[in-house]
Amino acid sequence: MTAKLPSDFLWGYATASYQIEGSPDVQGRSPSIWDTFSHTPGKIKDGSNGDVATDSYRRWGEDIALLKLSGANSYRFSISWSRIIPQGGRGDLINADAIEHYGVFIETLRKNGIKPVVTLYHWDLPQALHDRYGGWLNKEEIVQDYVNYARTCFRYFGDSVKDWITHNEPWCISVLGYATGAFAPGHKGDTEHWIVAHNLLLAHAYAVKAYRDEFQASQGGQIGITLDCSWQMPYDDSPENVAAAQRSIAFKLGRFADPIYKGHYPKIVKDMIGDRLPEFTEEEISVVKGSSDFFGLNTYTTQLAMEGGDNEIQGNVKNTFTKPDGTQLGKECTSSHLDEHVAKLTTILAQRMCLGYRHILPVSARVTENGFPVKGENTLEVDKAINDTARVDYFEGYTDALLRAVNEDGVPVKGYFAWSILDNFEWADGYDTRFGVTYVDFATQRRTTKSSYDFLKKVWKRRRHSGGAL
Ligand code: BGC
Repeated sequence: MTAKLPSDFLWGYATASYQIEGSPDVQGRSPSIWDTFSHTPGKIKDGSNGDVATDSYRRWGEDIALLKLSGANSYRFSISWSRIIPQGGRGDLINADAIEHYGVFIETLRKNGIKPVVTLYHWDLPQALHDRYGGWLNKEEIVQDYVNYARTCFRYFGDSVKDWITHNEPWCISVLGYATGAFAPGHKGDTEHWIVAHNLLLAHAYAVKAYRDEFQASQGGQIGITLDCSWQMPYDDSPENVAAAQRSIAFKLGRFADPIYKGHYPKIVKDMIGDRLPEFTEEEISVVKGSSDFFGLNTYTTQLAMEGGDNEIQGNVKNTFTKPDGTQLGKECTSSHLDEHVAKLTTILAQRMCLGYRHILPVSARVTENGFPVKGENTLEVDKAINDTARVDYFEGYTDALLRAVNEDGVPVKGYFAWSILDNFEWADGYDTRFGVTYVDFATQRRTTKSSYDFLKKVWKRRRHSGGAL
C-alpha cells in the first residue's frame, strides 16, 4: 500500500516496567503491589513472577539495539514509581539512582533516533502506599501522591520527554484489580472499582493540570491517557443488539472517556450504577474535562455484543465470538484474540472513537497498544516459535486497515505502538502467553527476532524509503 502518513506519525513498540525490568530490589527499588500479588500462591497461572522478566533493567542496551534495528521511531515504556520514590508519597525520598538510570536510558533512546513516550503508571503502585492508606481507594491521599510522583518525572525527564501518558488502561486497574480480583491487589466486589476508577480519573486530571500549569510552556510536550476497549460489533442488526453494543462501549470506554472528553459519566452508566458511582465536584470535573491532549487507545480484538446477561461490569451485555450462522468471527482463536480478519475489524474502533469524540474535542488518536498472542506459542521450540505467521497476518490486517483509515478516510490517528518488542511477563498468565515480536528464552535471556519483527520492520522501512509514504 502506498499512502502518505503525517510526518509526525509515531511508529514503535510498547512495554511496561513490571513486565520487563526484573531487578526488584536493585538500586533502592521498593516492592509494588505486583510484587506482592505475583508472589502470592495461586495468583499467576504458571506460578511465576516478575523478579527477572526480560531482565531489562540491566539489559536495556540490548532492548534499544533491537528497537533501533526494527526501524521504530518511538518507544513507549513505563517508569516504575517505586524506583523513583520507593515509599511512594510526597515527603518521601526521591531515589537518585533511579533518576540517573532512567535519565541515561532516555538519552540513549534519543541518541538512537527513538522518541521516548513515557507511561507514568502501568499498574505497579508502590506497596507502601497501599499499606499506608489503601492506595487507589483513598482519594485525598492518592491523588496528591500521584501528582507529586508525576511532577517529579516532569521535573527530571521533561526536557527530553515530550510525550507523556498518565495511566495505562484504568479499566484494567479498577475492574481486574478491585472487582474480579484477577490482578493486583486482588480485591473482589461491585463497588470499590467505581471508586478506584474515579480516583484514577482525578489523579490523571490533576497530574495533567500540574504539567500544563508548570511545565508545558517551557518543555513543550503533550500529555494524555491510554484507555482500552475491544471493538463491540452488534451480534446482528436487531435494535436491542445494536443498543447492547453501544452500552458495552459506554461501560468499558465511556466510563473513562466521557468524563475526560465530554465532562460527565455516560447517562446509562449513572442510571444503572446509582449512588455507587462517585460524583465529581464542580471544581473536579472542570479539571477532568479536556484533560487529554490526545486519545490513547489500546485495542486488541473484536467481540460480538448481544443484549442480556447479568454482568453489570459489562453493562449486562453478553459477548461471543460465534456469529448467528454458527461460524466463528475469526479462525486463529485464543481465549480472547482472533485472526487477521478480526484485526481489520478492530481498527473500526479507533476510527469510530476518533470520529465519535472529535466533534467535542479536536484531539487526534494514538493506538498505544495492539498485538497478538499466537495460540500455543509457549509450547514451541525457538526455531518454530519465530516463524509466527499468524502474528504477521494479524499485524498486516491491523496496520493495513488502520493506514487506509488514516489515508483514505482522513481518520486522525497519529501513532501506532505494537505490543510488544519482547515476549515478557504477561501478568496473571505469567510467561505462558507470548506477545513479543522477539522470542525470549527466559532461562538464558537470549533474544531471537521472529518473522513479525521482520514484517513490521519492512512496514517502517517502506515508509522511510518512500519519503513518508507507505
Ligand atoms: C496491557 C499490557 C498487556 C497486554 C496484553 C494490555 O492490556 O496494557 O500490559 O501485556 O494488554 O495482554
